[in-house]
Amino acid sequence: MRTRLAAGIAAVVMLVQAVPASAVGPGHHHPEPPHHGGPLHSKTNRWVGSAVAAQHLSAEADYKKVLTREFDSVTPENEMKWGTVEAVRGQYDWSGADAIVDYAKKTGKSIRGHTLIWHSQLPDWVADLEAAELKSVVRKHIADEAGRYRGKIRAWDVVNEAFNEDGTRRETVFQTKLGDDYIADAFRLAHAADPKAKLYINDYNIEGLNPKSDATYELVKSLKRKGVPIHGVGIQGHLSLMYDFPQGVKENIKRFADLGVDVAITEMDVRIPLPVTPEKLKAQADYFGNVWDACHAVKRCVEFTTWGFTDRHSWVPDVFPGEDAACLFDENLKPKPAYFRLYGKK
Ligand code: G3I
Repeated sequence: MRTRLAAGIAAVVMLVQAVPASAVGPGHHHPEPPHHGGPLHSKTNRWVGSAVAAQHLSAEADYKKVLTREFDSVTPENEMKWGTVEAVRGQYDWSGADAIVDYAKKTGKSIRGHTLIWHSQLPDWVADLEAAELKSVVRKHIADEAGRYRGKIRAWDVVNEAFNEDGTRRETVFQTKLGDDYIADAFRLAHAADPKAKLYINDYNIEGLNPKSDATYELVKSLKRKGVPIHGVGIQGHLSLMYDFPQGVKENIKRFADLGVDVAITEMDVRIPLPVTPEKLKAQADYFGNVWDACHAVKRCVEFTTWGFTDRHSWVPDVFPGEDAACLFDENLKPKPAYFRLYGKK
C-alpha cells in the first residue's frame, strides 16, 4: 500500500505547485490514522470519500483501482436504502451493502452509511402503512440495518432530506403520519443499534446561508438541547454551474460546528451545462475548491465526500438532461482540473 501511495503521489507531484496552508490541518479528526488514503488524502486530514456502486466495483477493475487509490471513505450510493434492502416486506437483500462493507474492510476504508430514513427510494409497502404500524416497521428497519453493520459504520445519514426549500418540514409519510418527533426517534433508535456510529442529518441546498440551512440549524440546536444523540450535519453539496456559488458556505459550516456537532460534505458534485469547455472545467474546479477550502477552514468539518468520482457513472444526466460531467475524474478516469484544484493548483 505504501508503494502504491508513493507511486500515486509521484504521478501527480509534478502537476502540483503548492498545497494551500488551509488544506493541512492539525490531523486529529481521524479516529485512527488513514492508512489507505490516496494522493488526494495526502493533502488533508479530513476523510476523503466517494459514493460507490457495488455493481461497478465488481464489474470494472479500473473503477475499483482508482477508488481504492484515491479515497479513504466510501458511501454506498443505493445499496443501503430501504428500497434496496427490503423492497418486499420481510425479504431482505443485503448483497450490495455487504459487498461494499466487505470491500471497505479489505482495503481499510471507512464507511459512511446512507441512509436510514428517506422519503425517496422507499418501498410502496412502507408508504402505505397506517401510523402505528409505520412506527413499528421504522423501529425494526433501523434496528435491523444499523444493527447488522454495528461497529463497521463510521457515520450514518440517519435522516435524509427532511426539509423543503423554505425551511418547513417536507411532508413525507414519516412527517405526516408520525409527526415532528420522527426525527428525534430515528436518532435514538440508530444510537441504540450502533452506539459508536456518528449520527448525521443530511440534506441538499444547505451549503450556504438560506431558509433551509436555518431550519436545519434550529433543528440540530433543539435536538442537542433535548439530549438527542445527533453528532453531525451532512451537507450534500450537489451544485451546478447554472447557479451562482452559494453565499456564506464557511459561515454556515462554522455555525453548525459551533452547536457542538461535526460537519461533513457528503455528496459533492458540480454539474456542467453541456457542452463541456475548458472555461467551464475551470469554473467547476473553483466550485469544488471553494467548498474544500470552506471545509478546511472549520476544524469540525471532518469529511469531504463526492457523489461518485467518475463521469462514467453519474446520476446527473438521468435527472438533469443537458447537464453532466459533474465529477472529479472524467469517463476515462483521468483527473480533471477540479481534482488538481484540491491540491491548491488554481
Ligand atoms: O436498479 C434499477 C435497475 O434494475 C433498473 O433497470 C433501472 C431502470 O431505471 O433502475 C435502477 O434503479 C435506479 C437506481 O438509481 C440504481 O441505478 C433508479 O431507477 C434510480 O432512481 C436510482 O437513482 C438514485 C437516486 O438517488 C434515487 O433518488 C441515484 O443512483 C443516486 O445517485 C441518487 O442519490 C441521491 C442520494 O441518495 C441523496 N441525495 C441526492 C442524490 C442524488 O439524487
